[in-house]
Amino acid sequence: MGAFNFYNLESLKSITKSADIKEKPVFAMVSEKAIEYAGLEEIIELTKAVKLKTKVDIYLHLDHGKDIELVKRCIKMGFDSVMFDGSALPIDQNIIISKDLCRIAHRNGVVFEAEIGRVGGKEDKVSSAIFKTDPRDAQKFFEEVKPDMLAVAIGNVHGPITANEELDFTLLAKIQDTIKAPLVLHGCSNRLPREYKVAISQGIVKINIDTELRQAFVRGVSTAIKKKISDPREILTIASDEMSEDIKEKIEIFSCEKLNC
Ligand code: G3H
Ligand code: ZN
Repeated sequence: MGAFNFYNLESLKSITKSADIKEKPVFAMVSEKAIEYAGLEEIIELTKAVKLKTKVDIYLHLDHGKDIELVKRCIKMGFDSVMFDGSALPIDQNIIISKDLCRIAHRNGVVFEAEIGRVGGKEDKVSSAIFKTDPRDAQKFFEEVKPDMLAVAIGNVHGPITANEELDFTLLAKIQDTIKAPLVLHGCSNRLPREYKVAISQGIVKINIDTELRQAFVRGVSTAIKKKISDPREILTIASDEMSEDIKEKIEIFSCEKLNC
């Protein structure tokens, strides 16, 4: 499934509109920074309202929750899915906290994602050098925590893509062979269609995209400004449509059965 970040009404609508047009369920994700910006209650109510008008399933997901209390609040307040990002912690500590949060999430019928290894790059409050997932660590982590989804680091990087950011599919295959679990790939902006397809064929069930959607949104705003449009509603509609185009393209690629879509 595609997992796309939002931070306001327009970006949320870009996601739900695209999912509706493509008739595919998606994750609509908010980071801690997006929550700080838009407000937790506002995000929850906005999503509830938008979901009522959407024909396909939209799963509200907390992306990279590092604040344990915030993860618990999101679980209690009706998120469909949460991620605890303990990737910066020593593995034993990551296991203890993830296990506890996973138990709370499951008690409340909420999907739980954890991370092992470190995705590189910088985005919102997440910043790290690449630290690829060790398959044995992933196995230990998966067996002890039993998350619904596990985010892995195979050379993927948050933020704008630069040269030499090869995805290590040999490592992904090893991880999948070892733990046979639903895996998540973060930092997936601007990858080649083939890369998404190979990742999916090797057990990736959730693909996170943010940066390229923000770029599309800003591109839309600047196009509108260049056209001397002054009505904010028109400006934001153009931005939201630009973002939608990108999301629709991604959903299409993720759901196409052929390797070269
Ligand atoms: O958690 C969000 C994603 O990993 C997005 O990464 O901004 O590089 O697309 P991205
Ligand atoms: Zn991420």
